[in-house]
Amino acid sequence: MNTRAQWGTRAGFIMAAVGSALGLGNIWRFPAVAYENGGGAFLIPYLFALLTAGIPILIMEFTMGHKYRGSSPLTFRRMNKGAEFVGWWGVLVAFVISTYYSVIIAWAMSYMIFSVNLSWGSDTEGFFNSFLQVEEVTAGMSGSIVLGVLVPLAIVWFIILGVLYKGVRRGIEIANRIMIPTLLVVFLLIVIRAITLPGALDGLDALFKPDFSKIFSPDVWVAAYGQIFFSLSIAFAIMITYSSYLPRKSDITNNAFITGLGNSAFELLAGIGVFSVLGFLALESGVNIAEVVAGGPGLAFAVFPEIINQFPAFNATFGFLFFISLILAGLTSLMSITETYVAALVDKFNITRGKAVIFGGGLAAVASILFATQGGLNYLDMVDYFINQIGVAMLGFVEVVLVIWILRKGKELRTHADRVSDIKLGSWWTISLTIITPLMLGYMLFQLFKQNILQEFSSETGNYSGYSDAFILYGGWFVAAGALILGIILAVLKWKQPKDTSERGHEE
Ligand code: ALA
Repeated sequence: MNTRAQWGTRAGFIMAAVGSALGLGNIWRFPAVAYENGGGAFLIPYLFALLTAGIPILIMEFTMGHKYRGSSPLTFRRMNKGAEFVGWWGVLVAFVISTYYSVIIAWAMSYMIFSVNLSWGSDTEGFFNSFLQVEEVTAGMSGSIVLGVLVPLAIVWFIILGVLYKGVRRGIEIANRIMIPTLLVVFLLIVIRAITLPGALDGLDALFKPDFSKIFSPDVWVAAYGQIFFSLSIAFAIMITYSSYLPRKSDITNNAFITGLGNSAFELLAGIGVFSVLGFLALESGVNIAEVVAGGPGLAFAVFPEIINQFPAFNATFGFLFFISLILAGLTSLMSITETYVAALVDKFNITRGKAVIFGGGLAAVASILFATQGGLNYLDMVDYFINQIGVAMLGFVEVVLVIWILRKGKELRTHADRVSDIKLGSWWTISLTIITPLMLGYMLFQLFKQNILQEFSSETGNYSGYSDAFILYGGWFVAAGALILGIILAVLKWKQPKDTSERGHEE
């Protein structure tokens, strides 16, 4: 007996996986991260991380989902009873990410409306701060709810929960089949316009000019791994969940290559587009590129509006298209992030999808209101940093070490993937996961803990001054460690349905 939902078509699965990968991480995170970490030289650690960790882990997660056909906790449980908590840990990290990711999409919705008449005016940074009302509160305090964020946030959750309620094939698959091609067309238009602007070449020069002095710095490697994991949606339960809906006859390795390489191609395209317009802005305002680059929220919501103001023609159209692309990329990723806990609740507590969507999604929607308060941006900055560094990166390391070294499933997974895929996995896959990734990621995390984590925070991610040390440290650790602790608690709860109907391999 098996009633697990399935993707309708291969293209449907690929669209959904690509939709999950292409997200806010590609459009604003990658360009700033690449620029800050050595420009063209960053592409070396980036490609290394992609080929030795990103794609191999993606193949591993696709294979795990396909073979054990369960949400992340169920998949880990079926591999080994004691491993279930790792599945929950990933699900909870995804839960936390969904609570603030949704808020950024909500900002983009408001900005899409603002772009119609460029209502941000000439002081775009001041406008962003007053839109969020962030200066009304001291860091650490929430203040009151900002209505301008709350209303679009409610719309975001309405769309996401509506799609998930419809199910895998009729909801997620159809939404991605519509949104992803639209995103690609819109984004291509933006990039073509961007690279034909005056100053674009200077921007590209700034992005791609290699600064080899940075290549030996562990920070740069940390950044490359972090970017690859977040961008590919790996190590936080997503790809295991999505591939658990694959029909039996599905090519795994080929799908993983399409997803991984497609995501990086889009990421490079985003980098080209973003730096072309930054070059244009620098030229228009007669300053150096370094002065106009900003990471995080500042890039999309302060620098971009400024660029849009200075556009030679069709300002509003360009602005509208840019924010539409953020919304589409964001929504298709948020669907996958939310599906991780919807699927986990269905599996563990034997409830209907509808109930899981209302309960899990509803809880996330309520929690996300914290980021729609006046102090929301400060919380967002803190949680994003800790959940990525300590959540996603550490989870990636633990997952690989657990699956390959402790449970020793490498050979079995490779045989499974090879049996259903056109491309056969070579020793590249085994060596990457057995040796390279544990060593590199282990070293990277060791460095991260050795460094003063507070200093790192203020230098790398703190866009907003005024944090108290205790607020960052305790708040950040509370969220990151909370995901692990709650994961362990959920893992010891009793299963409400037979969980050992076991893996696909046994059905055949
Ligand atoms: N992979 C998604 C992104 O890049 C989460 O934003």
